[in-house]
Order: sequence, then C-alpha cells, then structure tokens
Amino acid sequence: MKIHLTLSMGMLVLALAPAASSIDFTSAELSSEESTRQLYERWCKKYPDGRGCKDDDKSGRLDIFRSRAQEINIMNTGVIHNRRRLNEFSDITDDEFKETFGSCFLKSREELLEHDVITGDQFTFANDDIPDYVDWASRGAVTQVMNQGSCGACWAFAAAGAVEGIHMIENGILMQLSVQELLDCSISRGCDGGNAVKAFNHVIDADGIAKWEDNPYVATRLNCHKAQKVVTIGGYKFVPRFNETALEQAVASQPVVVSVDTTGWAKHYRAGRVFSGPCGQRPGHQALLVGYGTAQEQDIDGSNYTIDYWKIKNSWGIHRGEKGYYRLERGYEETGGLCGILRFAMYPVEPIELID
Ligand SMILES: *[C@@H]1O[C@H](CO)[C@@H](O)[C@H](O)[C@H]1NC(C)=O
Ligand SMILES: *[C@@H]1O[C@H](CO)[C@@H](O)[C@H](O)[C@H]1NC(C)=O
Repeated sequence: MKIHLTLSMGMLVLALAPAASSIDFTSAELSSEESTRQLYERWCKKYPDGRGCKDDDKSGRLDIFRSRAQEINIMNTGVIHNRRRLNEFSDITDDEFKETFGSCFLKSREELLEHDVITGDQFTFANDDIPDYVDWASRGAVTQVMNQGSCGACWAFAAAGAVEGIHMIENGILMQLSVQELLDCSISRGCDGGNAVKAFNHVIDADGIAKWEDNPYVATRLNCHKAQKVVTIGGYKFVPRFNETALEQAVASQPVVVSVDTTGWAKHYRAGRVFSGPCGQRPGHQALLVGYGTAQEQDIDGSNYTIDYWKIKNSWGIHRGEKGYYRLERGYEETGGLCGILRFAMYPVEPIELID
C-alpha cells in the first residue's frame, strides 16, 4: 500500500526515518574462511546480542551465519538496488528464530472464542479526533527497551509495558515494573509462552505488581514470591478486531499490547525502513504498540513515496530493530492488518498508585 507522491511533502506529518542499519556485503567476503570470519566479527560489532558473539569459540555460530550469508548472496546475484542485507537474525536458523522470536504468545481456543464475542462494547476510545502522529516513547511514557534473552516472555514484557504506560499517563509516574513477577506468577507456560491477558489477570488478582528492581528479570521462571506492590489496575479491555481506526484511537490514548506474526521477519526485516512483509497472519509474538505515523521512503527508481506505519517496542534488546523498536506498515485492515496486528490487541485501565 505504498502511496506514490506527487504533492508537496509539507502537507504531511512525516517522521524522520532512522538511518538504514543492516549490513551490506560482497560475495568476495564469503570467498575464504578468514574473510567470512571477519564479516561475522563485523556483524557481531553491530549486533552484539548475537548468540555466539560473546563466546571465544564462535565456530558453531559461524557455520549458521555462513549459510545465511550465502543464501542472501545468491538472492543478490545481479541485483544492484535494494540488495538484501544481513540483519539481526542472520546468525540463527529458521527453527531457532521461530522458537526465540516467534512463538511466545500462546492463546487457548477458549481465549480466542471469548475474544471473538467481545465486539468492543467495552472499548472506550471512540474519538474521531486523533492526531496523524503518535509516539509515546518520545512523550516519556515508555521505559527502556529490555532483552527477553532466550526466555519466551514477550507477553510479560508487553503487559508490563502497557501498565507502565497508563501509570505514567494517568498518575505521572514512569516506573519499570517487574516482568519477572509476571513470568513467575501468571498462569502461563513461563518461558515457553503466555498471554498478556494472563499477566493483567495476575496484577488484578494479586492487587498489584512490584517494581522491576525489587524483582529483577533473570530470564528463567522461578517460584512466585512477594515483593512490595507499587501499582495495580482496575481491569483491561480489548480493541475491536479488524478495525484500524479503533487501534489508532486506542494507541492515541495509551500504549497497547498487540500480537503479531513474525514469520518473514528473519529474512526480510531491514532496520531503517518500514517493514511491509511478507508476513503471516497467526500472531505468535506480543509487543507494545507505542504509536503510529507516516514515513517518507525512496523507491529503487529514486521516486519518493509515503508509507503509514505502526511503531512497536520489542523485548529483543536495543541492538535489534531500530534501537529496539520496529515499524510495521499500517493498512490491510480487511485481512487483520500486516502480521495480524489488528487481531488481538488489549490495554489495561484504571491504574492505581499503591505507594508514595
Ligand atoms: C471501528 O471502530 C470505531 C470505533 O472506534 C467504530 O466507530 C467503527 O464503526 C468500527 N468499524 C467497524 C467496521 O466496525
Ligand atoms: C526524494 O526525497 C529526497 C530526500 O528528501 C530528495 O533529495 C529527492 O530529490 C527526492 N526525489 C524525488 C524524485 O523527488
């Protein structure tokens, strides 16, 4: 859904695109063991959270990296513009990608059915007057990007982020909350996956959640234990599905948990551009939607076009994506949004501060 542009750019609200930041390389760099290793070292400098980057013996990872790079090199044969590049996922296999970045959001049949009957009567943002551009990160309602590591706790990070956001917006307090508590105490499969709904239920049932520093994240599930609660919520609501306007209205009011399918990201994601697919429609990942906007990008023929995007905060560390954030193309409402982003979105309400 690129919109080719003939009008003056002054008419649009445009966000500055971050510099392209994936790694281009030449086939010569794959010609010897030594040069491939050097390319991998260069990659590790850019993506230090890569699996083998901190090991002295990188040989296992190097093999996977080499075959990824060879794959890209073949696809780039004869291509001059828009060459594919190495990205933050170039050191892992398809199976590893799915396990680490694509399958931490679990929903039962019952939950989906329940969500299907919730048509949005509870939705409270029916406000036509929404801005063209929203970014809660730049408005100070979003805490720093963290890294879930090899634990599938995306759902807990997303839920904590949503509570952090509304706590800041309504109570004026920006405080990192304990993802570890959600991981330990929510009804979930812990590091094997969960659902932000269960995390919100825990906060409601336990009368609150502790702050991050009182129960810091260790990327493994531990016994649920008590730390002092700092904020609670009165409940949570679902955003009506397949409705782009509703999701825009929701995130214009506060950060929102969204569920996305990451299929296709491993091979096709490129920082510095809005991700426009290919992507599946079966969300296996949850993240925090923090805004939306319109970016200007350049086509291979040099022409400019604008592209509408959603901006999400991920829990994959600051060295991935755009300083930890990812932009996905907005649109495709009829099919559930790109990567299924319009399918399963929710937000907490009535944050109550518990200590002073
Ligand atoms: C989408 O949601 C808005 C309220 O946010 C509502 O006015 C509109 O009718 C909905 N559209 C559809 C197709 O249901
Ligand atoms: C596209 O935008 C860039 C940067 O704003 C500008 O330098 C370039 O001239 C534009 N290209 C066309 C064809 O208008």
